Amino acid sequence: MAGTRTLTIIKPDAFGAGKAGKIIAHLEAQGFVLKAARVMHLTTAQAGTFYEVHKERGFFGELVEFMTSGPCMPMVLDKANAVAELRDAIGKTDPAEAAEGTVRKLYAESKGRNAIHASDSDEAAAVEAAFFFPDLA
Ligand code: RTP
Ligand code: MG
Repeated sequence: MAGTRTLTIIKPDAFGAGKAGKIIAHLEAQGFVLKAARVMHLTTAQAGTFYEVHKERGFFGELVEFMTSGPCMPMVLDKANAVAELRDAIGKTDPAEAAEGTVRKLYAESKGRNAIHASDSDEAAAVEAAFFFPDLA
């Protein structure tokens, strides 16, 4: 059965542009419930560990540089079928391909600077939530 928890990050482009409130309101309107949130400026080591799965990809250096370029906002969200629901809500990686009404279509600039992260499986959601919120029950 699909889990009810996922991990999102409002990325430095969107956070720095003052879009965090609008994005949170957008997600809450779709039934996501905030369980934990923090504002933090990732170190290179933290960003590298978080996106370790991509370390052999050509865009890895650019991705780490972007994710450490300013504060971001990790959050744990609850909803039935949370992982799939949030992936639908944020849209495709490249905002040019994202569906109308998705967070990336509304708020992202480009495939690299794309406003928001979402876990891609229940397993990843558990690992990623523990990465930012180790004390969350
Ligand atoms: P995320 O993990 O951040 O939710 O994004 P995603 O699943 O939609 O995409 P993924 O393939 O996991 O890529 C992680 C992030 O790397 C950056 N990226 N840049 N320039 C490029 O071709 C490229 N490809 C990926 C994006 O910031 C993407 O969200
Ligand atoms: Mg991903």
